[in-house]
Parts: sequence; C-alpha cells; structure tokens
Amino acid sequence: MLTRIAVFVSGGGTNLQALMDAQKSGIITSGKIELVVSSSPDAYALVRAEKNNISTAVVSKRQLGSQESFEKKITEYLDEYKIDMIVLAGFMSILSAEFTKKYANRIINIHPSLIPSFCGKGFYGLRVHEAALQYGVKVTGATVHFVNEIPDGGEIIMQKAVEIEDGDTPEILQKRVMQQAEWIILPKACEMVSKKLMEENKNAALWD
Ligand code: GAR
Repeated sequence: MLTRIAVFVSGGGTNLQALMDAQKSGIITSGKIELVVSSSPDAYALVRAEKNNISTAVVSKRQLGSQESFEKKITEYLDEYKIDMIVLAGFMSILSAEFTKKYANRIINIHPSLIPSFCGKGFYGLRVHEAALQYGVKVTGATVHFVNEIPDGGEIIMQKAVEIEDGDTPEILQKRVMQQAEWIILPKACEMVSKKLMEENKNAALWD
C-alpha cells in the first residue's frame, strides 16, 4: 500500500510543486500526495494543489483560537484522509510536542540552511538567508530532517550545499538555495521515507 502523504504549506508552495512534479516524473513512487493543508487561506500553494486535483484544507490558528484546537482540526483531516506521513513544505506554524510525538518519524521538514547553522526559533524564510549573508558564510544550503518537539532539531535525513556568490541579496540567495538544493532533496527524502514506511508495512498497522 502506497504511503498516504499530506503536505503542509503556508505560502507560495514551490516545494509542494517540486513534490507534485516528482510524483509525475517517477522520483516519488512509494507515496501519494492525498492532501494539502494550508495555515493560510491566501497561500498560492492551494492554487497549485487544486491545479493538480489534490484535496485541500485550510486550518487557521488565528481563527481557531488555540494551539490545541488548531491541532485537533488538523488531526481530524489527517484521520479523514488516513494520512501516514506529513511533509512540512514552507509550513510556518510550530507543532506541539504532543503532535510531533504522535507522528514520530512520520513528519519531515525542509529548512533553507545547513542545520545546525541558522535554524531554530525565529529562523524561517528570508530571515535565514539574511542571517547567513550577515554572518558572512561562504557556503549555505538546505536540510531535510525529521520533526520532533525541538524546532529544526530532529534527525537529519539529507543536506545539500550551495555556494554564496558576490552580490547576493537574501532574495537571490533564497532562489538559488531553492533551485540547487530544496527542490532536489525534498522529493528525494520524501521518497526515501515513504519507501521505508511502505516496506515496514507500518501504514497498514496504523489504519487496520
Ligand atoms: C522555503 O525556502 C522553505 O525552505 C522555507 O520557506 C520557504 C517556503 O517556500 N521554510 C522554512 O523557513 C521553515 N523553517 P515555498 O512555499 O515556495 O515552498
């Protein structure tokens, strides 16, 4: 049975696009994206999902009022779609220890730096690249890791380095890191973990 995947997004969704493309081109064969969950109703990622006929759900923490009701709503969707694995692809909300424990070794995240540099609380999106340029590092990159209760603290699955070039701005660097690292390693890591879950037959165990 293929691993049933939910992708969590908050913004543009270029990493979601890379995952959907990888499914079409045969890079991802052990799992299927069944649901896209967005923390924002305006995320362009939702349009991308709809264009690919993938079901979507919007779960807004602001509207739901608390972390608890936010995660309860998410869990309802995950149960409804019998989701085995979660990919955080530019998802800008923190998940509680209770939630990450329930899906231990089943949630992966893409982070736009070489962890342990420029990661943890407050390091997301463009801020990561601003910090890398400000520090003056000559190499940065992206990391896919398992998600646990520590922000960006779970076991590393895959990393790819990207060179910093003269004249880089945070925006230019962000684009290069996406093109040369994120869009390549996220689909690969997604296949690796879906395959492992499929082979271990954990999916059946979870839902039978
Ligand atoms: C990506 O660069 C991703 O690595 C980053 O947000 C961007 C989302 O872009 N995630 C984080 O910073 C998480 N800490 P996308 O919506 O186009 O995929």
